[in-house]
Amino acid sequence: MAQRIGVLISGRGSNLQALIDAQARGVLGGTLAVVVSNVPTAGGLDRARAAGLATVVCDHRGRSREAHDAELIAHLRAHEVDLVCLAGYMRLLSSGFIAAFAGRILNVHPSLLPSFPGLDAQKQAFEHGVKVSGATVHLVDDGLDSGPIVLQEAVPVLDSDTADALSERILAAEHRLYPQAVAWILSGRYAIDGRRVRGDKP
Ligand code: GRF
Repeated sequence: MAQRIGVLISGRGSNLQALIDAQARGVLGGTLAVVVSNVPTAGGLDRARAAGLATVVCDHRGRSREAHDAELIAHLRAHEVDLVCLAGYMRLLSSGFIAAFAGRILNVHPSLLPSFPGLDAQKQAFEHGVKVSGATVHLVDDGLDSGPIVLQEAVPVLDSDTADALSERILAAEHRLYPQAVAWILSGRYAIDGRRVRGDKP
């Protein structure tokens, strides 16, 4: 049976759209089962609805991280999710959530990790003056953008760039990379050796 993917979002959901498009092309390797947003007005919810996906709003306001994450876990379990994809989900996850889906949470980050973790990674890289940045998909552990790296794509920084122009070029790389990483992890054809994720990419 196809493995089931739950996507967590907080915003516009362009990476979610890349996953939706990959599923439509038959190259995602699994089924998008549910999209959960902690922000009721997230644009990604409209993308999910337009694609006919189940959506859940799980507002974090006024709740502890643990209580909110317990509710997230319940929604994901109710939809029998095997793999959780963070796609612009702008909250840290509790250790309880990470344990509930141990080794089964992916995130996409707009830099070549371990450089520039955290917020505004594209601007951090631009202002640092790096000549190459990029996108990273990694497994999520308890640290900030620190889990084992699944796939990366380098993106050049041009002399003519602004932080916004660089962000756009990195975003295009994210959209290529994320569906490939999901398909690879769902194929199960990988091994984790220390921090290294190795195997046959689909
Ligand atoms: C992306 O740049 C992603 O790497 C970061 O947040 C942004 C989300 O964009 N974690 P979108 O909501 O997928 O368009």
